[in-house]
Amino acid sequence: MKEILGGLERAVKKWDELGWPRPEVVVVSGSGLAVDLGTAKHHLPLSEWLPFDVHEVPGHPHQTELLVPRPDRPVLYQKGRLHSYQGYSAHQTVFAIRLGALLGARVLLMTNAAGGLDPAQTPGDLVLIRDHLNLIGLNPLRGDLPREWGPRFPDLSRAYDPDLRSLAGSVGEKLGIELSEGVYAAVAGPSYETPAEVRMLGTLGADLVGMSTVLEVIAAKQMGLRCLCLSLVTNLGSGVVDEPMDHEDVLKMSHASAGKIERLFTALLAHDELV
Ligand code: HPA
Repeated sequence: MKEILGGLERAVKKWDELGWPRPEVVVVSGSGLAVDLGTAKHHLPLSEWLPFDVHEVPGHPHQTELLVPRPDRPVLYQKGRLHSYQGYSAHQTVFAIRLGALLGARVLLMTNAAGGLDPAQTPGDLVLIRDHLNLIGLNPLRGDLPREWGPRFPDLSRAYDPDLRSLAGSVGEKLGIELSEGVYAAVAGPSYETPAEVRMLGTLGADLVGMSTVLEVIAAKQMGLRCLCLSLVTNLGSGVVDEPMDHEDVLKMSHASAGKIERLFTALLAHDELV
């Protein structure tokens, strides 16, 4: 925890020393989804901020960009998220979220790649997360956290902001991008699920399965950010179709669908009602 607290303090100081405007919004992109959201005004490798080593995973670039989609709205864009399956602690995983929150950001937009648990889904579908099941077995609020970060027992009944979901729905409609809503189950990974686990997750009420996102949302909610998270269904879950799972296929589908996400997020970042 000491490492994180010291690292955050240094990162906030560095942000200001660089003269970067403080962000209103944080964006974190998922596997193969490091889409182009406009020309970065500034950028730095993530390793420049983090008080711990960053390990690279294929399809996950690690860079912080400062975007300015409109003059009153600087955006901290973390291209490439940190996953707990890479060996990061929950506190390390949410570092960029806490940095954004301490710098004053009020909204968090995230994407992830997910497996669809319903045979009616098709790879390429975009699903707004309505709620989650945290089955990762970690929580970024464990331990002795600074009181000013937020409540010890934050409410998660509206973790995925209903107004932001409705805004995304209407922006998507205008752009001809179809969005549904669903419950995201986060598992530890990195092995993909067995068919029995996929059946179990469906029984538990999940529509999607992935290995990320929920730790960031928990930290973001504690610190008062409103969250909007978009899953790209890159594949159907193990056993939903009789095909072996392959990370390369997940990345291919992510690249193929990046354009839709790029258009949707670009429009949202410029929208009056986002913040
Ligand atoms: N399971 C878990 N994580 C994933 C999947 C999946 O099927 N697809 C993309 N991320």
